[in-house]
Amino acid sequence: MSWNFQEIEDTVQQEAKYILDFQRLEAFRTKYLGRKGLLQEIYASLSNLPHDQRPLVGKNANDLRNNISIIIETKQKEIKSRQAQSPAADIDITIPGVAAPVGHQHILTQTIDEICGIFAGLGFVVQEGPEIETEFNNFTALNIPVDHPSRDAFDTFYLELPDPGHQGRYQLLRSHTSPAQIRVMQKNQPPLAVIVPGRVYRPDAADASHSFMFHQIEGLLVNEDVKFSELKGLLTVFCRRLFGEKTKMRFRPHFFPFTEPSAEVDISCYICDGKGCSVCRRKGWLEIMGCGMVHPKVFLAAGYPEGKYKGLAFGLGVERITMLKYGIEDIRLFFENDIRFLEQF
Ligand code: DAH
Repeated sequence: MSWNFQEIEDTVQQEAKYILDFQRLEAFRTKYLGRKGLLQEIYASLSNLPHDQRPLVGKNANDLRNNISIIIETKQKEIKSRQAQSPAADIDITIPGVAAPVGHQHILTQTIDEICGIFAGLGFVVQEGPEIETEFNNFTALNIPVDHPSRDAFDTFYLELPDPGHQGRYQLLRSHTSPAQIRVMQKNQPPLAVIVPGRVYRPDAADASHSFMFHQIEGLLVNEDVKFSELKGLLTVFCRRLFGEKTKMRFRPHFFPFTEPSAEVDISCYICDGKGCSVCRRKGWLEIMGCGMVHPKVFLAAGYPEGKYKGLAFGLGVERITMLKYGIEDIRLFFENDIRFLEQF
């Protein structure tokens, strides 16, 4: 075995140029001076050489080892001083970065935006009302009688805050978005059309379909002449836009104190197309919202002159609609903040 020391020296010098950090320096040292390195190999080969060649090869090998040691020492100092000047100098900018996960809106926010967007396209203005409400706005002005069960402390969170305008009454966490109707009418004269999304609260024990906090969207349109047929037309368009053009809609007579007449709105089941399945409990229809023509007493409570205006109103539950639309079976999933659930939408 003969060694071309010139060639080895050239390679060493070439490689030395690329030593910019301790990692590469260590790899370089191991390659040449390590236990299984090139110099060990050269020294081991001496015994196989003819006697007269051994001194020269031995000397060349020693020179090479010295040169490499000098390179290592110099590089060590270089890297250290570069790191002292700027720790970042040791960072390998060629390593691919760690991608930051990109978040997105919560599915409930997406549904709220979609629904408000549909009504905004039909001329409604998006408004908000406070979550802390007066008993007057939440119940009295909406024609909800004093002995109505929803006023019970089991069904509404009362706060230890007196209602300033109405002595002996308390403020509360609104149990629906309907009190926003009163606020909007107190501040604005018809014609008006508003859509009000927001959180509402009820002291229900949490289960698959109940949560102490959830979201509703309230709609109110008031003018001198508004017809029940317009309410039905409006909500038909809404249901088709939200659930698809083929969706059928029906009004079922119902009672709400703040509307007369009132109805509950059903859509044809999107799973079985109205034939009957487990999602619609064999009915073929899914209840999605309440609606009606604004009760005259509500106009009076809001301070409008008797008999002058007519209005339509509706209210829907955001969680319920989202669960129906995406086939989600447990309301608690929305609030557990489990990324594995949230990132699916
Ligand atoms: N506030 C009702 C509820 O929480 C929903 C509702 C029904 C709102 C009919 C309305 C309406 O504006 O007209 O159950």
